[in-house]
Amino acid sequence: MGQDGVMVANNFAEARQQWQRLTQRILQAQQEYYGADAPTLSDAAYDQMMRDLMALEDSYPEFRTADSPTLRVGASQAVSDFAPITHLERLLSLDNVFSEIELSDWLARIERLLGYLPSYLCELKIDGLAVDLVYRAGRLVSAATRGDGLVGEDITSNVCTIGVVPTRLLGAKVPSLVEVRGEVFFPVAAFEELNAALVTAGKSPFANPRNAAAGSLRQKDSTVTAARPLAMLVHGIGAYSGFTVETQSAAYELLQGWGLPTSPHYRVVSTHAEIAEYVAWVGEHRYDMEHELDGVVVKVDALTAHDSLGATSRAPRWAIAYKFPPEEVHTKLLSIEVGVGRTGRITPYAIMEPVQVAGSTVERATLHNAYEVKRKGVLIGDVVVLRKAGDVIPEVVGPVVAARAGRESELSEFVMPIHCPSCGTKLRPERESDKDIRCPNAQGCAAQLIERVFALAARGAFDIEALGYESATALIAPETNRPADASAPQQQPILRSESALFDLTIADLESVCVWRHPKGSEKWVLEPYFWTKGTEREPSKPKETTFTLLRELERAKQQPLWRVLVALSIRHVGPTAARALATRFGSLAAITAASADQLAEIAGVGAVIAESVIEWFSRPWHLEVVNRWRVAGVRMADETMLTGQVNLLSGLTIVVTGTLTGFTREEAKEAIISRGGKASSAVSSKTDYVVVGDNAGSKADRAAELGRPILDEVGFRKLLDGERIIG
Ligand code: IVH
Repeated sequence: MGQDGVMVANNFAEARQQWQRLTQRILQAQQEYYGADAPTLSDAAYDQMMRDLMALEDSYPEFRTADSPTLRVGASQAVSDFAPITHLERLLSLDNVFSEIELSDWLARIERLLGYLPSYLCELKIDGLAVDLVYRAGRLVSAATRGDGLVGEDITSNVCTIGVVPTRLLGAKVPSLVEVRGEVFFPVAAFEELNAALVTAGKSPFANPRNAAAGSLRQKDSTVTAARPLAMLVHGIGAYSGFTVETQSAAYELLQGWGLPTSPHYRVVSTHAEIAEYVAWVGEHRYDMEHELDGVVVKVDALTAHDSLGATSRAPRWAIAYKFPPEEVHTKLLSIEVGVGRTGRITPYAIMEPVQVAGSTVERATLHNAYEVKRKGVLIGDVVVLRKAGDVIPEVVGPVVAARAGRESELSEFVMPIHCPSCGTKLRPERESDKDIRCPNAQGCAAQLIERVFALAARGAFDIEALGYESATALIAPETNRPADASAPQQQPILRSESALFDLTIADLESVCVWRHPKGSEKWVLEPYFWTKGTEREPSKPKETTFTLLRELERAKQQPLWRVLVALSIRHVGPTAARALATRFGSLAAITAASADQLAEIAGVGAVIAESVIEWFSRPWHLEVVNRWRVAGVRMADETMLTGQVNLLSGLTIVVTGTLTGFTREEAKEAIISRGGKASSAVSSKTDYVVVGDNAGSKADRAAELGRPILDEVGFRKLLDGERIIG
């Protein structure tokens, strides 16, 4: 099924219509892609439409007219400011496969047609622009874009400015003629810089490196091209005379010898397994390359096989592109909403039509702050480019400006709200110079409280697994999703401050109800959250997870001091600073009594964190949180400190490896750090002790090799109790 919702044609007339619609959209996309450097369709959507068209033409071969996009290479030469150049040999495109199975089918077909198992050359599919260079007697005489594969545009003067493109070939044996094909690209690192500079100059940034390369190459003024750090890699030869060559790989060696840039990443292989290995290798290193790439190209290495296999009007039969799933897609920006963070920061985020990118469905992406929304230049209603930064976090790159034409009335600018969407308080920046604006109602804003409770339950704080975002919302904002209907019963929050968290009882939790949307139902209904619904036969009772929650809250009261500090949501105080504070002071009372200077002089704390700590403890409602937690039984001091053990291991680096019976790995680490020692994971000559548990691996061997003292669990306990052990 394609982008336009086609493919199931019930009759000939319908199929014909579909064919026309697809053809029109593909031709328009080609014109935008090759002609105007302003694509409105993502590569993936284009590929899909092309496949739909091919499938349609397979069912209805009479549609396949000579000018069908399935039979042509690229854009027609409709509009161009550049002089035409006829290629000496046709410059074809590549057919694509999109899965390992399709690739296997292609290999099987090649081997059937050839009647033997050939060697293959595997290489990267560079995401750039095809160029055709002609060298006569070693001199570059012309450079052209691909155009329609027969005739391209003359871009010789621009190509001459590309540093890696030789205008003269090297060596004594330069050929009388060689037509070289390659890909011009914009190196990824330089792309970021270019876009930043364009934005500073008040111009629109390019959507991706490929567009930047196209925009830089098709300049009327070569000095603009010269200022852009374009690069090129060659991937084939066309017409040639004055030399003989038998394989694609040998051709690369020759070209390289003449000073032309070839990719170091090609590999000649002889089995399907090796091809699969290469594909996997490229998949792993996709983002480590100098250029963007969108797949792998597999070519039969022997040039005699190129002749015997021949080509269709669009692509050679001896090569195939295996395309990776796209990392950049287009989707519609439906709205921009704002979220309220743990410290009250207001963050706009994009809500988009759900779309697949780099292997998962994405419908939300942060836009960071109002300045970022402006900088990206996106309007609500825009078609936007979405990518997964570092392949993990989805990021809105910018709008597809060309897709705005005719839809201006559907677009609107994002306006940052003036009041907090959660509690209605007037928003303001903390300092005048701040880009972020915040909700100043830290104590009473439900959205901030939910975030704080979620954060205090996290692994690096109290580690209360049963207290996730959903249960925090149930406790703090049970009105979430309440229908606008006035007759819908109102819900009072059971938790109005984190100070009461450890006082929650099973009876309190019985009354917590939330609005849910049961499967198959149209309406939101109110249901108990922590207790079962109860029927006539079986009365309501606490859910299993509710018992878990209360057990975990109880356990959390015994967590070490640094975790309590992290749980307090003091700005800038993460695990490292919290550990440093806990180790130095040992109790919350001592930290509260310390001066800013005393705090700041601790390694891992510093002036900013010190000021933040002082500021936090100066607020009465914060002290109230600490007090109520204390009364509820939360441990506010580390025992090691109380028994005078705080600096027992000061200056010692200790590695724990293997399984201990009395400590988890985390507890062992904790025991070392809380006594002022350093828990390390790698054994080196600087390691003071290596504690070896069951099934210890190479670290124990390494310790023996380096002659470092080795302790068993008993020895470790003695060390923790203050005995210095000579290993
Ligand atoms: S060979 C006659 N090898 O991808 C065959 N093309 O989508 C010519 N491309 O038109 C192509 N990397 O512009 C070949 N390693 C590579 C390539 C490559 C990128 C481009 C080329 C081609 C397009 C097809």
